[in-house]
This record gives sequence, C-alpha cells and structure tokens, in this order.
Amino acid sequence: MRIYRKEADEVQLIAFPDEHVQKGDYFVIEDPAQSRGLLVQAIDLQYANVPGVLEDILRDVMTDGELSGEDVDPLNISSQVDALKDTRLAVCKIRGTIAQDGSLSPSTSWLPSRTSSKIRPYAINRLIMNGGKMPVKLGHNDGEAISVDASGLDGGLNIITGRKGSGKSHLAKLLLLSMAGWGAPCIVLDVNGEYVNLHKSRDGRQSTARLTVLAPRSGLNFSMAKLGLRTMAGVLSHALDLPATSSKVFTIIWKDLEARGDLTLPTVIQAVQSWSCHDSVREALTSRLQVLMESGLFDEANPLTEERILHTIERGGILVVNLKNQSQIVRRILVEVFLGELTKILSSNWLKAAFLFAEEAHLYLRDTYWDDIVTRMRHIGLFTTFITNQPDTVQEAIYRQADNVFIFNFTNEHDIEAIGKVAKADSDTIRYLVRGIPTRRCLLLGNVVKDLPLMVDVEQLDVRTMGETRLFFS
Ligand SMILES: Nc1ncnc2c1ncn2[C@@H]1O[C@H](COP(=O)(O)OP(=O)(O)O)[C@@H](O)[C@H]1O
Ligand SMILES: [Mg+2]
Repeated sequence: MRIYRKEADEVQLIAFPDEHVQKGDYFVIEDPAQSRGLLVQAIDLQYANVPGVLEDILRDVMTDGELSGEDVDPLNISSQVDALKDTRLAVCKIRGTIAQDGSLSPSTSWLPSRTSSKIRPYAINRLIMNGGKMPVKLGHNDGEAISVDASGLDGGLNIITGRKGSGKSHLAKLLLLSMAGWGAPCIVLDVNGEYVNLHKSRDGRQSTARLTVLAPRSGLNFSMAKLGLRTMAGVLSHALDLPATSSKVFTIIWKDLEARGDLTLPTVIQAVQSWSCHDSVREALTSRLQVLMESGLFDEANPLTEERILHTIERGGILVVNLKNQSQIVRRILVEVFLGELTKILSSNWLKAAFLFAEEAHLYLRDTYWDDIVTRMRHIGLFTTFITNQPDTVQEAIYRQADNVFIFNFTNEHDIEAIGKVAKADSDTIRYLVRGIPTRRCLLLGNVVKDLPLMVDVEQLDVRTMGETRLFFS
C-alpha cells in the first residue's frame, strides 16, 4: 500500500490488487524516521482514478469478441494496465498516533513520509486489550475474536439500533447473559416475549443463568399501599394522563385512607364515589382507577415487593418483565411502576446498580422519561440499554449522551441520518461503514472500544432466543 493524499482528518491509501482491504479495517502507517505510526481506519473503498484507464476499459469492451488472433504484448504492459484498473483507493479516517511502546494518543498533527512509510494492517484487539479483566465475547472481526471489557458497559447508556431482523435483540441477549454472568443485576422490558427462555439451550438443557419471568396475572401484581403515593400518582398522571386538579384530590383521598390504614384499590374507588368534589374530577378519577382495576396489576394478595425484586436480581439475576400481548396502557403502567420501584431500591442503596434492557422503549416510555433515564436514573445507578429499530424515535440529545452505540444494518437514508448524530463518531464514519453492512455484523462505537469504531460479526448463542418472526411459508 501507498499513501496517496491527506486532507483534514482523511488519508487516502492506494491498495494494489493483491492487498486485502475491507471497510472498517485498521492500518498503521509507520514512519521509521519518526518512530511512530499513524492509526487510520478504512471507511470507504473506491477505484483509483488513473488517467487513461477509462479509455482502456472502453476499448476493451468495444473490441471484445470482435477481433480474432493473439495479442502481441512483448513488454507485458497489458497485465500492468489490468492491475491499474483493479487498484483501489481506501478512504481512511485518522484515529490517532501509535507511539513506539504501542500506546495510542489522539494527536494527529504530523505527517508520515510518503516514500519511506510502511503500511500494515493493525489488529485493534491490542488496543481494546482483548476484553481486559471481565471479558464479554462479542464475536469476530476478520477471523479474530473480539471481546470487550464488561466495565465499558457499566455506568452509562447504551443504544443498540438497526433495522428489523438485523440482530439487535440477539446482541442484547448476548450482553445480558454476559453481564449477568459477571454478577450484574439485570431487568429486561420484553415487548415480544423473546427473552423468556434465555436460560434454556436449544436442545432444552438448563444453563446457569438465573432467570425470573413475570407477566401480568402471572406474578406481576402490586400492592398500592406498598408502592406508595409517589409511584401511584406518577402512574395516574403519566401513564393515564390524569389532570393535575384530579391528582390533587387523589392525594387527599390517599392520605385520608392511609391514616385509617385502609388503603387498597377498591377502597380508593369507594372513597372517590362518596368524596365531595366536582363531578368532572370524580369522573376523571373513577375512569382511571377503573383502568387500574381492569389491568389486573393491583392485588393485595402476595404482591411483588421491592424486597422480592431485589432478591430476584441481586448477584447476577435476570428479571424479565414480559409485556407481550399487553395493551399500550398496561405497558405504560408497568413501566412507570417498575421504574418507581427500581428508583426506590437504588436510592436506598440496597443495590449498587442495576442494568435495564428496554426493547422498543418508545412504545411505552413517556417523553420526559428519556431525559430522566439518562440523567437522574443514571445518577442513582440505573444503567439503560435501549434497543430500537426506529432510531428517529430516540431524541438527538439521548444519542449525544450514549456511551456505547451498536449499529446494525440500515438501508434507509433517513435512519442513517438520524444515527449520524451520535457523538461517539463522526457522521462520515457511520454513514460509510453502516451502508451495506451485512446482517449480524455491527459497528461498535464508544467506551467498550475506546472510541475506535470497530466492525464485529456477532457471536452465535446457544439459547432459545424465540426472536423469529412467525411465517406461513417456511
Ligand atoms: N449473530 C447471530 N448468530 C446467529 N443467529 C443470529 C445472530 N443474530 C441474529 N440471529 C438470528 O436472526 C434472527 C433475527 O435476529 P433478532 O436479533 O431477533 O433481530 P432484531 O431484533 O434486530 O429484529 C433471530 O432468529 C436470531 O436468532
Ligand atoms: Mg428484536
């Protein structure tokens, strides 16, 4: 390979036909005189525009099959011209400087020599230390195993995005099982009911993963009094859009019943009926409480308490909240309740932190929660991984805050535009690398790869993933 030109943070390398280069590959341009190397990553491959090649290609086509006889080429020029035609130009982004001891610095203020520099492929694994102390095996890159350190997923916000069927949930399951394997408490908001068999291998054996699956009318019921006023008021106003005036009346009724030690959903409904308040308030409250009643989520008998949630997730337990076949309203109520409970558990320091995996969160998360999750929740130790196939439903500000982003295939320009706003890489890198990426391969950005964008073919999993779309013709 040879350096062709450099402009701003881009270097163009000439790759000859026998040299292997793929989008996403890293190279180091070593300058022996300066005893350091420039680390670059190929983001696009083009044909080298050599003068005269177009003419030669056209001539080839026109004479193809029309002339008989043998080519006389005593100086063997045609093979050289052919090589020129197949010479590629690798458009590369500069990622930093590698010092002689192998360390990377962001400095890019020097230029390697065009004549004496040696360009060789660079295995990025060395820089991400092949998983470090707590390796999470993600997959492969060009035959080389890629592991990242679980601590890179800690303390922040991760986003997994890509179009439908590209392998997002699969990666989420892989991360989930690995994190739980390292003892991390995990909660999954599962909209498609596809995480419920993660503890079984494909042939039906049980794995060591400690998984608890809860669903409405199957272990998921709460006691109103135990949830507390704050959570219940949140459910009414956020999940059920109760107006503020009615919310005030609810608070008064709550306190009254609480003082009498008779706080259950039926007694609240009764109290509302006989409370002296405006009819519109009564109606607003009654209709919402009726929804709560019908949701089947509130039952004083054997409710799910904070202690039980804590018990299921501590020391690497996975709690799957199965939201499959639930209405939008029930999902929103459940998420509100769960986030309330997790906030309580984490703020009282019963747990250091918990990891929340939220599939298609825009379906059940109210707008203001996004900010809450990346600021307040993160502060108390709730670290979220969003999984979505609609990148434009996540606000731009959330992308900017993301610590790790895993991007799978997108074909739609609008979607690629939306993810280009991620702060962890420049938009050129994302656009070029994501376009045409095969399914099950993803682009990794962020802390886990020390901000060096990396392509990974995601590992298989021997679990019953249940993510398959139901088909008639199969
Ligand atoms: N790396 C992988 N290795 C093996 N199978 C995979 C891999 N990634 C995805 N799959 C399979 O492909 C299908 C679609 O993947 P899934 O993760 O459900 O897609 P998405 O969530 O992006 O819609 C599933 O059946 C899943 O098991
Ligand atoms: Mg999915």
